Amino acid sequence: MALRAKADVWLARTWQCQHRMRALGTTAAPATKALKPFEAIPVYSRNKWLKMIQILREQGQENLHLEMHQAFQELGPIFRYNIGSTQVVSVMMPEDAEKLHQVESMHPYRMHMEPWVAHREQRGLRRGVFLLNGSEWRFNRLRLNPNVLSPKAVQKFVPMVDMVARDFLEALKKKVFQNARGSLTMDVQQSLFNYSIEASNFVLFGERLGLLGHDLSPGSLKFIHALHSMFKTTTQLMFLPRSLTHWTSSRVWKEHFESWDIIFEYASRCIWKVHQELRLGNPQTYSGIVAELISQGALPLDAIRANSIELTAGSVDTTTSPLLMTLFELARNPDIQRALRQESLAAEASIAANPQRAMSDLPLLRAALKETLRLYPVGGFLERILRSDLVLQNYHVPAGVLKSFQVETLRQEDVQMVYRFVLMPTSSPLLTFRPVS
Ligand code: HEM
Repeated sequence: MALRAKADVWLARTWQCQHRMRALGTTAAPATKALKPFEAIPVYSRNKWLKMIQILREQGQENLHLEMHQAFQELGPIFRYNIGSTQVVSVMMPEDAEKLHQVESMHPYRMHMEPWVAHREQRGLRRGVFLLNGSEWRFNRLRLNPNVLSPKAVQKFVPMVDMVARDFLEALKKKVFQNARGSLTMDVQQSLFNYSIEASNFVLFGERLGLLGHDLSPGSLKFIHALHSMFKTTTQLMFLPRSLTHWTSSRVWKEHFESWDIIFEYASRCIWKVHQELRLGNPQTYSGIVAELISQGALPLDAIRANSIELTAGSVDTTTSPLLMTLFELARNPDIQRALRQESLAAEASIAANPQRAMSDLPLLRAALKETLRLYPVGGFLERILRSDLVLQNYHVPAGVLKSFQVETLRQEDVQMVYRFVLMPTSSPLLTFRPVS
């Protein structure tokens, strides 16, 4: 029997409740008491068929985070339920997440994003680290780390992110000054989405898509549309068994596969161009992650393509949503915004000379971003399939399982979040950008 264990981290607004639950958990099940069997873990019961109908009707499960939060409030810090024949255990306390982390081997096992895997299998394509487990995951990951995550790699690509960020601000500035009122009120979500793709595309392939300007090429438009539709269809398909959606949502599957095909075609073209240019002569300057991976022969070309696609998909909403929510929180907390501006002005010269100093010279900005991620955790949960037995909450769990603008808003009330592959705001708050005198 496959058994999954999910460590879920829930919203900061629920922190007080979490403390109450810690007390509940520790008094109800102190470490000295006899170990309880797996079957004694509280069961989160719901009518499977009603749930499926609801997911089909609503085309997803946007309130998943609220539902899980309620389950934790009612059942305490650990509960279990079934997804098909798989038993899932959900935990929320940091100490349980720590225990799960400690028993993790060199090869952590996770459930897979079924719609994505289905596409790769049907088209005979390789998977990247996001969709791999076991030794193949580790093999890919060890080859990616030096070029994607290491401080040396970050140092190399930070100037590229910086360049896109400056272009984004210039484009915004231009729009502000074109307005007769000298300010610009907008729904900034789509612009942030474009900025995220532009930056990740430049860092990966060393090529600009031109998403920050007005004249988008048909190729860029097609790619960005495919990314949108891939995410939309993912949330429509990911919560239900394929055997069911095969019948109920064949049009959604078709759109999902076609979107992935466009994304793969686009990445193939980019990789082919990088490959060609590298064969014609070894450039002396750094031109992005994919060029490094190809020139080092770190991975076969189709593995580089699979991983660069997952890096693209992984980077877009995870960047857009926290940026939007940071701007919103700064707009309704003008004192913090002022303090951040002062910090940026003080660090301006040193960062202009050396862009990677942005990582060390802006502690308040770092804290503001971390606080946004605490308030609006973009990734709702983390999954692991247990490879060995574990005790959680005294239950036995067996194995097998901008500087030049100020940003303002009239909106003071909180923004609701929905689960659409990542947690994102239901509606984008209107923000006004105004030059600082
Ligand atoms: C606040 C931002 C982000 C959050 C909260 C987040 C969250 C996560 C989580 C929870 C996982 C699963 C990790 C696991 O199973 O151990 C993950 C994996 C991954 N993320 Fe992110 N992510 C963020 C930003 C990004 C960005 C910017 C990229 C790409 C540039 C990215 C690419 C990936 C990839 C490729 C994986 C699979 C890694 C592997 O299994 O080796 N993520 N992310």
